[in-house]
Amino acid sequence: METASPAPLSERDPPRAHPSPEPVRHGLEGVLAAETRLSRVDGHAGKLVIAGYAVDELAPRCSFEAVAYLLLHDRLPSREEERAFAGAIARERTLPPLALQLLAEAAAAGAAPIDALRLGTASLSVEVPRVERLLGALPTLVASYERLRKGLAPVAPRPELPASASFLWLLRGSEPTASEARALDTYWNTVSDHGLNASTFTARVIASTASDVGSAILGALGALKGPLHGGAPGPALEALLRLRAEGGDIAERTRHWARAELDAGRRLMGFGHRVYRTRDPRADVLRAAARELLADSDLLALAERHEAAVLEVLREHKPGRRLETNVEFYTALLLHGLGFEPPLFTPVFALGRLAGWLAHDAEQRAHGRLIRPDARYVGAEERTLGVAP
Ligand code: ACO
Repeated sequence: METASPAPLSERDPPRAHPSPEPVRHGLEGVLAAETRLSRVDGHAGKLVIAGYAVDELAPRCSFEAVAYLLLHDRLPSREEERAFAGAIARERTLPPLALQLLAEAAAAGAAPIDALRLGTASLSVEVPRVERLLGALPTLVASYERLRKGLAPVAPRPELPASASFLWLLRGSEPTASEARALDTYWNTVSDHGLNASTFTARVIASTASDVGSAILGALGALKGPLHGGAPGPALEALLRLRAEGGDIAERTRHWARAELDAGRRLMGFGHRVYRTRDPRADVLRAAARELLADSDLLALAERHEAAVLEVLREHKPGRRLETNVEFYTALLLHGLGFEPPLFTPVFALGRLAGWLAHDAEQRAHGRLIRPDARYVGAEERTLGVAP
């Protein structure tokens, strides 16, 4: 059979004329790269709407399974649908031997919990995971690793428990109170989705190549791990606890510490946001949830004075740029109130954001296109290897 000879390279792949005066947006800010029905982030009004519901109404009132269902199906489930969905997730909680083996080796090597979660998630990809498998198994990975890290044996999942109570059971080996489980649901719901943030965008880039959903989640975990994204609440809490332990007036100490951090060129974790030019609406939802957990302690009152002092210093530091409290500051307090240690904060964040990542993965596959932006070449021109000596 005769085959057409390929077109010369120059015709097949003509060089693209790049409009050179156009500025490069290194952080892609203001670039519209997707349409989504999942969440609307209004950075000027300080509002977050998740699939049509204001976050402050939705997060404290629904179970995490109901919010995950909402993101995946664009409507809240009926009681029966919620029970069936929660049951399908609960049946997927048991880890395969390979994952347990990897976690044990990671614990022996002293890996950080977020890295153990990446390893464990990668091991699930061996079986091409489904949505329920990822929602069921990732909490077990995080909780089992936390126990292994502390020299304790993982406990067996209990399929009759809902997601939040199950996670706390798997961590502690004892049942949580209803208010602890409620606080965790509220936290996961609050962080379940947030526009085209870095980890979600990463997931969508991977989904856009028609790779598998496990790989999209794995990539998102790598992006979330960074201190500028999901890694902020640990340092935010550590700073607060250290200043509290030093005693004296916390506002005074905070101002002194914050100025020294900024003078050293460091950022204050839990403050500032790419999109919000006002207070992150999630901060108030989480502050209210943390208040219930920390009712018996002075920590919340101290945190509020610390927060006010940080904001004062940030205003002096950047008078032209509104830097406000972001979600991570009260995340730190809420997760501390649940008894979690800072290394667990980012993995627990991932378990909530997982719902959004999965929904974005599906949305990208259904409507998206291969994501492939351009770069302006600024390297050397016209080099040659010359003639070999
Ligand atoms: N502390 C000190 N300075 C800050 C902070 C901060 N927390 N946030 C921003 N700035 C400064 C920047 O250094 C920059 O100064 P410059 O113009 O002199 O370089 C100026 O304010 C403007 O900030 P941008 O860099 O334009 O802000 P960007 O949109 O890139 O940053 C980010 C957003 C990364 C969240 C930033 O505010 C930050 O690093 N915050 C601390 C980390 C943090 O809390 N991350 C969690 C964010 S929420 C989430 O991802 C779930």
